[in-house]
Amino acid sequence: MKEIRILDKKFREYLTEDVIQKRIEELAKQINNDLAGQEVVFLGILNGAFLFAADLFRRIDFPARISFVKLASYKGTTSQGTIKELIGWNEDISNKTIVVIEDIVDTGNTLERIVDELVIRKAAEIRISALLYKPEAYLKTIPLHYIGFEIPNDFVVGFGLDYDGFGRNLPAVYSLIK
Ligand code: IMP
Repeated sequence: MKEIRILDKKFREYLTEDVIQKRIEELAKQINNDLAGQEVVFLGILNGAFLFAADLFRRIDFPARISFVKLASYKGTTSQGTIKELIGWNEDISNKTIVVIEDIVDTGNTLERIVDELVIRKAAEIRISALLYKPEAYLKTIPLHYIGFEIPNDFVVGFGLDYDGFGRNLPAVYSLIK
């Protein structure tokens, strides 16, 4: 298996490009079957989901929109300190089916923040798609509908995911060598 170095860390190939692409094909088929005929907006979460969103969305065979939002940290004036704000909304999502596209669901904190916002904005139905999911780390109960791969609780890079900003361009997913 291929090994790479990013900054001070070594990673080993974990999911090959071919395996990832075949799985995305399967997820797209499921979505095409489940949601054709509905008014769907895909919502990619930047930065990490940009590659997965592109490869999934290009395989959607019914008319649909895609939009991207980003979670930005800012210092709130509340006692909780840093809170995250979703920026980049330019789509009216009320009464529409939303498919959230995440790179990875880890604790689920990010996902919960997004779903809360979608509820406030009156989405008719919310479906979650994530390329990767770490069940051992997940702390929430939000159902995940279209999952690429369940993976162990190890740090991974590639296919959109980064280590300190690097590694997003790798076509495969690599796992940290401990
Ligand atoms: P959560 O809010 O804990 O579910 O984390 C979600 C976000 O954390 C993802 O969108 C990623 O940006 C980042 N993240 C979580 N696990 C990893 C990892 O193994 N590698 C790179 N980024 C990760």
